[in-house]
Amino acid sequence: MNLNNLKFLIKICFLAAATGFLIIWFGLFNISARVEHWDITSNFIEFVRERSIRSNAEAVTVPDLSDKTRVARGAANYAAMCAQCHLAPGFSSSELHEGLYPQPPVLSKPDKHEREPIETFWIIKNGLKMTAMPAWGIYNSDEQIWDLIALIEALKDMSSDEYQKLVAAGEHTHAKGRHAGENDSGSEKMIHTNLLHAPDE
Ligand code: HEC
Repeated sequence: MNLNNLKFLIKICFLAAATGFLIIWFGLFNISARVEHWDITSNFIEFVRERSIRSNAEAVTVPDLSDKTRVARGAANYAAMCAQCHLAPGFSSSELHEGLYPQPPVLSKPDKHEREPIETFWIIKNGLKMTAMPAWGIYNSDEQIWDLIALIEALKDMSSDEYQKLVAAGEHTHAKGRHAGENDSGSEKMIHTNLLHAPDE
């Protein structure tokens, strides 16, 4: 490449960067959660997410996810911490599920969640930047996360009644036994809200 070509290329790059900056400066990028990304942007974000999950997920030992006691232990925690966003058998919507962008996937749908368990484990433990998916590993042990994954696997074939029974029978145990509402200092309350509407009939 000769010097003139190089200069031309630098000018083009500078112009592109300046245009990008002006678009952002004048607020032309609409940050609203109600305006979808262009396909090219969505595909790029998905590519970044999948590459990152694949390379960060560690080779941890996967326990028996069909273990019924794990499924039962996961239910009440799922209802308290996940169902508002990811829904559950018998629930077809919630404010959080409808309002978030990207929209949280419905984890009980059989076509969803076709991932290696170690990837799901990593996602739940670490969360996903800029998506509203929290890092649950801050307050939940690895065992509690595997219980949630066992429950999610079981949700695919679970009726609304079965789900309700499991949730009612279980105890919400996350936050290392602090579910009575206290954080580390024991002085401040942790808030748990369940914004799900009543089950669909
Ligand atoms: C405030 C909303 C919110 C809550 C609460 C929440 N999530 Fe998520 N979660 C999300 C969003 C949004 C995504 C999608 C992120 C994306 O598209 O990149 C997600 C993605 C996931 C995924 C990845 C799905 C896939 O394979 O692509 C899993 C698994 C998951 N969440 C599990 C959970 C579990 C388990 C809980 C409860 C302990 C939970 N989430 C609570 C918002 C939430």
